[in-house]
Amino acid sequence: MVVTFDVSPEKEGSVLNYFYRQLTQTPAEVRGIDLGGKTAIVTGSNVGIGLECSRQLLDLGLSKLVLAVRNVSKGQAAATELSKDINLNPGTIEVWELDYASYDSICSFVERTKGLERLDIVILNAGIMATEARINPSTGHEETIQINYLSTALLAILLLPVVKSKRPLAEQPGRITITSSDTAAWAKLDERNEEPLLSSFDKPGKVDMLNRTFVSKLLGQLFLVELAKRVPSSVAVINMATPMMVYDSEINRETARSLMGKIVEVFRRRIGYTAAVGARMVVDAAVKHGEETHGQYLGLQKLKPMAPIVYSSEGDHLRSVLWRETLEEFSFAGVEDILNEVNSDRKEIL
Ligand SMILES: NC(=O)c1ccc[n+]([C@@H]2O[C@H](COP(=O)([O-])OP(=O)(O)OC[C@H]3O[C@@H](n4cnc5c(N)ncnc54)[C@H](OP(=O)(O)O)[C@@H]3O)[C@@H](O)[C@H]2O)c1
Repeated sequence: MVVTFDVSPEKEGSVLNYFYRQLTQTPAEVRGIDLGGKTAIVTGSNVGIGLECSRQLLDLGLSKLVLAVRNVSKGQAAATELSKDINLNPGTIEVWELDYASYDSICSFVERTKGLERLDIVILNAGIMATEARINPSTGHEETIQINYLSTALLAILLLPVVKSKRPLAEQPGRITITSSDTAAWAKLDERNEEPLLSSFDKPGKVDMLNRTFVSKLLGQLFLVELAKRVPSSVAVINMATPMMVYDSEINRETARSLMGKIVEVFRRRIGYTAAVGARMVVDAAVKHGEETHGQYLGLQKLKPMAPIVYSSEGDHLRSVLWRETLEEFSFAGVEDILNEVNSDRKEIL
């Protein structure tokens, strides 16, 4: 499907335009959808945008919600908080452990999802903004790339067969929405000519960690375009949405410790949305749009271009290098077979 945007990638990606949008527009509450009977998973849902996405899904009548969190007691506190002002059937909210820093945890989590009666919506939202480059001891990758890109991508692939088999009607696709960011367009990809690309992020040395966060989101966009080509939208509509700038989540837990970080916080409080407002955009992408959003990015509840580089010939090259290396990284989990199996749907239709 050819998608046309109401703005060029360059204009959408400009810093000035970003702040203009943030200051002049507010996304609407998501209404007019009944999620009765449906099951959703939201990752990173104990605080911030994930918690607010969870609340909004419950407000839309969701029948079962899995809070996927790395700290179960924080997840249980979130479940209690979500149950406070709403009449939920017993067992509506379950808290499941999921640590993006561990492939074992991801695989166990996905195994557990196979026991769900149905699975309609997945919001892959967990993410970090770190102030120093740390190598994940179990995977050997720099943690921001690990959490924001690699583990998010692995979950997106591993959950596909579950979404495919647990969607209630074969003609109704499941939904996977990834929380992304407009800052992908601001990423300085100094590693663009490195091959292998993925391990170039693990090299020791000084790293601009704000830029690293932007890069992790850019990698996600490059990956989504490739993934969507290989997954029929009849199986799952996979898209991304930005929550724009949110001031009252805990994403700044490391950055706000420095003097500069504290100054930035004052600015964020003045112009950022609440997590509840930012979450509207993620929930909108997950429940309100159709197959036209497969492999696409949404901002302020509309289809928007991804970072300009995604549409360039350099982006074509980067996408193919990244896809190959990412699939190699995940070969332990049989991802090629999973994608072939998921894609057999398309062959059945043809
Ligand atoms: N805030 C913004 O302005 C903004 C803008 C654009 C995009 N985003 C994106 O929005 C998403 C949510 O961010 P937020 O602002 O709501 O931040 P947040 O309040 O810090 O929430 C992040 C969530 O991710 C979880 N998480 C972190 N590391 C994890 C791991 N290893 N395994 C499992 N879960 C993990 C956190 O769990 P713990 O509480 O246990 O650490 C928390 O639940 C992120 O992907 C972020 O990049 C945020």
